[in-house]
Amino acid sequence: MLKTTPATTLPTPTPHPEGVSNDEFRAAMSRLAAGVCLITAHEAPLTADGPRGEDVGMTATAFLSVSLEPPLVLVSLREGSRMDDLLAEQPLWAVSVLADHQLQVAGRFSMKGRISDRLLFADLPYERGLISGAPLLTGALATLECRTENRVEAGDHTLVIGRVLGAALPSPDSPPLAYFRGRYRLLAK
Ligand SMILES: Cc1cc2nc3c(=O)[nH]c(=O)nc-3n(C[C@H](O)[C@H](O)[C@H](O)COP(=O)(O)O)c2cc1C
Repeated sequence: MLKTTPATTLPTPTPHPEGVSNDEFRAAMSRLAAGVCLITAHEAPLTADGPRGEDVGMTATAFLSVSLEPPLVLVSLREGSRMDDLLAEQPLWAVSVLADHQLQVAGRFSMKGRISDRLLFADLPYERGLISGAPLLTGALATLECRTENRVEAGDHTLVIGRVLGAALPSPDSPPLAYFRGRYRLLAK
């Protein structure tokens, strides 16, 4: 008679429903070194009398170049952030690519729960973009002014694709500010 051995029940691994845990995902993505930007926008269209409303700023690393013809860029904004709410209402925004001496700017504009950006901007040297009305930081490596072409909901973020309408190099030779493994980094010169 054929002897059968009872099947051993191996513990089946219980994968995370999405295939990866938050910690695993964060740890993997933290190994992607990124440049740091300040995304800015002005609440209301510019008028002949100057700016109305408040300026909003947000530190972001999820910013990239998408297309050359036409020139398109993309920023990924957490759904419900002030910048996401503002850019759902109006299409003009700007990007300042931060230099290493602007580390504190990145820190301030990523603070959760800050009431208003008015005081933060009051402390900073900037010019107002002629196209977007948004603050363009003096001393940034580069600045871009954009108009939203497309918004795509992606999980808990909104991908905002913008056409670049203006670009400048206020301080092109400064060393960049980088972010890697959860910390700001100054690149060795
Ligand atoms: C280095 C760094 C990079 C960040 N990059 C992004 C980003 O690409 N997109 C985003 O939505 N938030 C990003 N954040 C978080 C926002 O800066 C932060 O949540 C926001 O300024 C808080 O404003 P809120 O209260 O309107 O959300 C980043 C934060 C840090 C410190």
